[in-house]
Amino acid sequence: MHALVVFESLWGNTEQLAREVAAGIGVDSCEIVDAASAPTHLAPDVDLLVVGGPTHAFSMSTASTRESARTQGAEHVPARGIREWIEAQPHVGRPVPVATFDTRVTVPRLPGSAAKKAMKRLVALGFQPAAKPVSFGVHAYSGPITDGEEERARRWGAQLAGARP
Ligand SMILES: Cc1cc2nc3c(=O)[nH]c(=O)nc-3n(C[C@H](O)[C@H](O)[C@H](O)COP(=O)(O)O)c2cc1C
Repeated sequence: MHALVVFESLWGNTEQLAREVAAGIGVDSCEIVDAASAPTHLAPDVDLLVVGGPTHAFSMSTASTRESARTQGAEHVPARGIREWIEAQPHVGRPVPVATFDTRVTVPRLPGSAAKKAMKRLVALGFQPAAKPVSFGVHAYSGPITDGEEERARRWGAQLAGARP
């Protein structure tokens, strides 16, 4: 099995959770890359794709929401997020299983999920959902991650690996 985890993270919270998901999948079989530098073409041996990013303005980030994050103190502001990485993907020629996750503030609980939007677009490209999109909580825009979420992310990764045919 070769899993690829593609993440976007401006304050590091989603990256930390992506690392937990990868650890749950199994470190030997799992590559983890920032969307800004992830390859546009999936390697032919990838048989599980996981995409995770922050929820911005009820959806995936855009150049403008990332710029807003910069003005709010984010130090890592990528030129390309998961939205642009997905947009650059060609239609996949085989039904590669995909799972998506996002991070969102828990208070106030806002509608909208980057993970759901990402999944919709990936399915339209021919990917096959391996699990329902999942959200993990952060306390504020800059974090930290809420209690128990790192463990939940690791368990979710293990479930993804275990659920594969
Ligand atoms: C411009 C902007 C818009 C945001 N919009 C939302 C939102 O609609 N819903 C939400 O729950 N969190 C929202 N957030 C909070 C982000 O989800 C939070 O910053 C992110 O989960 C932190 O993850 P990161 O450290 O990986 O960037 C927003 C943050 C920014 C900067």
